[in-house]
Amino acid sequence: MSLLSVRELRVSYPTPGGVVQAVRGVSLDIAAGETVGLVGESGCGKSTLGKAIMRLTPAASGQVSIDGHDVTRLSARRMRPLRSLMQMVFQDPHGSLNPRHRVGKIIGQPMSVAGRPRREIDARVQQLLAKVGLPPGAAARFPHEFSGGQRQRIGIARALALQPKLLICDEPVSALDVSVRAQIINLLQDLQGELGVSYLFISHDLAVVRHVCDRLLVMYLGQVVESGPTEAIWERPSHPYTRLLLAASPVADPRLRQARPEALLRGELPNPLAPPSGCAFRTRCAHATARCASETPGLRELSDGRHLACHFDLPPLAAPPVPANVIPFQPTPPVHATAYKFG
Ligand SMILES: Nc1ncnc2c1ncn2[C@@H]1O[C@H](COP(=O)(O)OP(=O)(O)OP(=O)(O)O)[C@@H](O)[C@H]1O
Ligand SMILES: [Mg+2]
Repeated sequence: MSLLSVRELRVSYPTPGGVVQAVRGVSLDIAAGETVGLVGESGCGKSTLGKAIMRLTPAASGQVSIDGHDVTRLSARRMRPLRSLMQMVFQDPHGSLNPRHRVGKIIGQPMSVAGRPRREIDARVQQLLAKVGLPPGAAARFPHEFSGGQRQRIGIARALALQPKLLICDEPVSALDVSVRAQIINLLQDLQGELGVSYLFISHDLAVVRHVCDRLLVMYLGQVVESGPTEAIWERPSHPYTRLLLAASPVADPRLRQARPEALLRGELPNPLAPPSGCAFRTRCAHATARCASETPGLRELSDGRHLACHFDLPPLAAPPVPANVIPFQPTPPVHATAYKFG
């Protein structure tokens, strides 16, 4: 059974200009101890999906279950005991920490809200500080006395306070210096090893996503267009959008960079108030045909565990050419075939 199960989730925001359909029928599962990455351009609905799972923003329709509990339509009161199961780590470790509260109070706050006794909270705060690599004295200080990386450690400690099973990390390292990013990523991975927590990991940084995620969901204009094991998507990206997204990344592999002329994301993300008919990506897709405007491609399963929402099976990307100055790898013959003689 999955720890998190999301079915056909839809989230809309009423705005003066009309209704923005930020999430349009997304389904996903996360197993215990698994890390699932959520990638896609700015505005495609990643944060909205995260917040709707957390019940921080209401769902228009669909279903969210955590640890077997359907939380989609629970009242605030009935939701309270289940809140501890999932917590969120935000991008901006400064903005999300109350500047007037001491760190001990910030980290302990979810426990105070849950009505835990003072002594238990103090002990747990010390335990959490140690877990995220901060000194015991940190509890008595204020957020502004810490660096960005340290503040993110405080945010992670607070998220862990009630022993959640799922952490939704929304761009957890984007606001940090490159040198500090790896430390926080390592911390998240160590915590996962120790606590078995699952992550929904939202990020623009595909190098980080590839490093930490077991599976990926690629989102475009509120929908998942491709999903599957990280390496399968990296090796065989099939959706034209996935290919463009990967090609735009500095860590793109040579096949994608080679496909560059086609691989420029044309135009802007369409107006979310009036998404294109059929396949939402067709207005920017080099392969689009009339069928893409009239027929919405559903997600279909491919043989390697991926799911793809495209009418077509585009040819795989060609293997990168071997540069002339590189001697192709020759396997050494097995030992028994060589002329060694013993004794
Ligand atoms: N509170 C809101 N009211 C109205 N529209 C909103 C609100 N929050 C988000 N939106 C719109 O919903 C869509 C999805 O936004 P969302 O913040 O989820 O995207 P995102 O993928 O997280 O983007 P980014 O990568 O920039 O963080 C966008 O069109 C955005 O303008
Ligand atoms: Mg966001």
